[in-house]
Amino acid sequence: MIALGCDHGGYGLMQEVIGHLEKRGLEYCNYGTYSNEAVDYADYAKRVADAVAKGEADRGILICGTGIGISIAANKVHGIRAALCGDCFSAQATREHNDANILAMGARVLGPGLALKIVDTFLDTPFSGDERHVRRIAKITAIEEGQN
Ligand code: RB5
Repeated sequence: MIALGCDHGGYGLMQEVIGHLEKRGLEYCNYGTYSNEAVDYADYAKRVADAVAKGEADRGILICGTGIGISIAANKVHGIRAALCGDCFSAQATREHNDANILAMGARVLGPGLALKIVDTFLDTPFSGDERHVRRIAKITAIEEGQN
């Protein structure tokens, strides 16, 4: 299950992402927003981040104008590693190295062709599981829990 969320800036690109996931036969849950009307990106970041953190979704995809606000907000939720990606190399590396559980993108930054390739890369790349990456992620969690 993939949790989806966007603000008005990301709404158009999210429709492309939804069409793409449907073509691929992937299950998703759309947490909105559902139109071009102006909304606050943090509200949608929280809905998707909560769904991923609670295990209701395996991954999340968040889109705002730049991808910046919505990724900053998502990363405030415990257990979330949201990665803002503008290229496939980063999308692959953040899965392999950071075990990122949310992909963030900027609809005013990316065209739909590249964005959908980034989505595929993010969804299809497994975490490497390498000891050094597990250790580094544990240190991120320690910071989050105030144990650093
Ligand atoms: C909305 O205008 C815009 O600020 C938002 O989509 C995003 O880019 C914020 O980081």
